[in-house]
Amino acid sequence: MTDAPLDPLIALRPWETPEVTSWGRLPINAVDRRCGALPLDGDWRFQLLSAPDAPVGGAVSSACSAYVPGVWTMQDTDDLPRYTNVRMPYTEFPPQSPAANPTGIYEREVDIPAEWAGRRIVLQVGAAESVLLVHVDGRPVGISKDSHLAAEFDLTEVVRAGERATVRLTVVKWSDASHIEDQDQWWHGGITRSVLLYTTDPLYLADVTVRARYSGELQVDCRVRHAGGALPEGWYLTGELDGRLLAHDAEFDRANAEDERVSDFLGEARLLTTVPEVRTWNAETPELYGLTVRLHRADGTVADTSQHRVGFRDVEIVGRDLLVNGERVFIRGVNRHDFHPLTGRTVSYDDMRADLILLKRFGFNAIRTAHYPNDPALYDLADELGFYVVDEADIESHDHAHEIADDPRYLNAFVDRVSRMVLRDKNHPSVIIWSLGNESDYGANHDAAAGWVRRHDPTRPIQYEGAAKLGWADPSLASDIACPMYAALEDCVAHALSGEQTKPLIQCEYSHAMGNSNGTLADHWAAIEATPGLQGGFIWEFWDHGILQRVSDGRPAGRGGAGLYDNGVAAPGHRWAYGGDFGETIHDGAFIADGVVFPDRTPKPAMYEHREVAAPVRIECFRHEGIVVANHQHFRGFDWLAAVWVLSLEDGRTLTAPAELPELCPGETAAVPLPFALPEDGGEAWLTLRVTTAQDLPWAPRGTEVCTPQVLLRAAGVRDEPVAAGAVEVDDEGLLVHPLLTAAPALSLWRAPTDNDELGGMAGRWRTWGLDALVRKVVSVRRDAGRVTVTAEYAGACGVVRHRQVFTPVEGGVRVDEEAELPEEFDDVARVGSVFETVAGLDLLEWFGQGPWESYPDRSAGAPVGHHSVPVDELFTPYLRPQESGGRHGVRRFTLSAPDATGLSVVLDEPRQVSVTRYRAEDLTAAAHHDELVPRPGCVVHLDAAHRGLGTASCGPDTFPSYRVPPGVHRWSWTLRVL
Ligand code: GAL
Ligand code: MG
Repeated sequence: MTDAPLDPLIALRPWETPEVTSWGRLPINAVDRRCGALPLDGDWRFQLLSAPDAPVGGAVSSACSAYVPGVWTMQDTDDLPRYTNVRMPYTEFPPQSPAANPTGIYEREVDIPAEWAGRRIVLQVGAAESVLLVHVDGRPVGISKDSHLAAEFDLTEVVRAGERATVRLTVVKWSDASHIEDQDQWWHGGITRSVLLYTTDPLYLADVTVRARYSGELQVDCRVRHAGGALPEGWYLTGELDGRLLAHDAEFDRANAEDERVSDFLGEARLLTTVPEVRTWNAETPELYGLTVRLHRADGTVADTSQHRVGFRDVEIVGRDLLVNGERVFIRGVNRHDFHPLTGRTVSYDDMRADLILLKRFGFNAIRTAHYPNDPALYDLADELGFYVVDEADIESHDHAHEIADDPRYLNAFVDRVSRMVLRDKNHPSVIIWSLGNESDYGANHDAAAGWVRRHDPTRPIQYEGAAKLGWADPSLASDIACPMYAALEDCVAHALSGEQTKPLIQCEYSHAMGNSNGTLADHWAAIEATPGLQGGFIWEFWDHGILQRVSDGRPAGRGGAGLYDNGVAAPGHRWAYGGDFGETIHDGAFIADGVVFPDRTPKPAMYEHREVAAPVRIECFRHEGIVVANHQHFRGFDWLAAVWVLSLEDGRTLTAPAELPELCPGETAAVPLPFALPEDGGEAWLTLRVTTAQDLPWAPRGTEVCTPQVLLRAAGVRDEPVAAGAVEVDDEGLLVHPLLTAAPALSLWRAPTDNDELGGMAGRWRTWGLDALVRKVVSVRRDAGRVTVTAEYAGACGVVRHRQVFTPVEGGVRVDEEAELPEEFDDVARVGSVFETVAGLDLLEWFGQGPWESYPDRSAGAPVGHHSVPVDELFTPYLRPQESGGRHGVRRFTLSAPDATGLSVVLDEPRQVSVTRYRAEDLTAAAHHDELVPRPGCVVHLDAAHRGLGTASCGPDTFPSYRVPPGVHRWSWTLRVL
């Protein structure tokens, strides 16, 4: 490696020159060159400099290498990942960067194939952050910014076929561009997508634009160039769509040929066809056709070929509705970053496929590529598996939003980033909306970019939250969609009902999934489906961005960490790192862990909630003519689904019967007969339709559960009428003495604060009230004919709760009637209920109630009522930052048993919130990471008379007042028996 002190690329200081967005870079296009290219992925020689203008030290031996694609921040260098949300990790104002500016020098030799002689040779760097400088054999070749799109450089004049060339890629971490890449995610440095070399004939396809309409019309516009100048005479194009030849649009050609000078070096041609009875594309039935475009020389030989997959579909806004193929579709979306716990920002094809398969299985049909163009393969997969994509440009200037939006020095960068995204992704049927970026205020730079898009691609709407927030209905703003983030549901509904609405209302972010969250999701969807004008939104977000970290040395496990996690939990000696865990002083903590899946893609319970609110099959009600079933899809019937009826009776019986789904078009309903004669006895009775895939699908094998809609057939009678018998032992402190309990039932008003509780300010209030450390004082213990009444006071910092327990000995156990009176000061608490602890060995929980997933009062739609059985160790959800976890809503009765079937049973007076875990609330409160928790040998059991909903207040609305726990008197009863 030789040093080049007067290197012009360094001398230009492009890292602090926002006007320079590239130099020597080829225009981006939609011709996929991955196939047949020479891959340059693998180990490259590597040196990390302290600054871009620091001297490159001596020869870099192959002993020091970095893997491409990959970020050096995850590859055992001293420059570790850092996490900040809004603020930049340094104080320099745009366009400045800090003097300490890690710069990676990647170098390797490349043998240029001899058979490439006479051909055009292009280097493609898939993505590098944030400034890429390219040298070949010491000669400067180019510069690129825009960290999430590829950069191509023409090497035809720089390398020689049959010879070896040295390619050096210099990647500068901090730059003027970092100020517009200030997204809420880890900061990394490196080359995040594949590097390759490809070759074309000198006569080549420079770009192909495909427009395929719902009507079956197909138009393919091609641009042809010739390396080094004039186009040779007689070139022509042919196209083929699944074997059907495309016609030439002679009119288009003629128009172009009028200007001889232009056609000298740029050829344009249009191919056309109309497919009769076309199979159209939508997210439910993503039908694709194969298109091959061939560029021929005059003698008929093929100079270049481009392959595309074509989906015929229309997107338009009519009135206030976004229509796909004329249908007002619901957008059941999620925001997705390119993320991986081992590689940071490099995501393999298999990982992306797994992401999308999981989303499909949980009812999602849309993705916003927050907050930059994702890996190209993601769009291929979205086309294939069926997702609507909001493609977002790599622009977020959050910390300096106001300064940058109108700063002419950044004008190029805005237009460059938006236009390059459109040029790359325009042929994907999945992309239905272009987004100008995220959280960058709103300025002339946005309008400039929007203007470019409107001219170049009039077939898709544009959205931008920063513009939309200035007026959801204002036609003068750059956003065609009213796309707020975290808007209050009542504001959305009010807007839709106001008569003022002019644009589709689709929240670009809502239902913040940090920790134990996504409360009120079902309420949101009930309102969206019931209110014309509301069309859905994108949950924030898909991943918890926890990086797998070795606890011993605090370093990222990197690619060597494969397999060192399971079911959402890091292997012993490891943990999921969040902000601050790599020693950063400026950071935003666990705010990086706010996804619906764990860092290893294990779904959080909220995913089941989403699956149910997105259910294609619904049960509307139970009427005398039968069960009313509805088709909640947009484009298809039920032929891809199978189902069984499951009847769950409270007495323990579960009956099943085959179900035949009626033939229903989207939006239709039909009554189907009750599949069972309802047994006269058995108590509360629930009928569930367990819907699965009827055949193997690209995203789910046959038999994959799709949804479990359910209906109550018979309400509960009196649940338990215990017969008074025996005696009950209560100690002097008024505490129940029981052979299976190691801690007697006491009052609990505290839960380990969820992220929503903490960031929403509730936990702070609860601490001020002293709810985490209530002091119990027994007031009286009265014994009366075997029954014991204990009155106690629980004193907080500014109020006292009176609590009464009445213990009545009953056959086989004890009935506990409780009453707690909360003072007015405690006007919104986490819970009111009992907590007790059991002896070790009771390791299986079986219950009748909602499940099997974790559920809470405002997140329980995805947990059907039935008989459930889960080992205690699996009830707990391992949220990265320990918090309230593992609850089950609507529990009517349960048993906790040892393998020999001994144990205890509890029958509750009403469906209650119950949790059984190995942790006290104080254990969870004290821990910062899951690996710090030490499970207790017995069980910690909470039975709640009332439990506060989860809401989403870590970023967005709190739960609704109806899910809060008010002051005043709470009463609950339960019967404890020995099995
Ligand atoms: C939004 C932002 C996201 C993320 C989220 C909170 O304001 O667009 O990038 O920061 O809030 O997690
Ligand atoms: Mg932000």
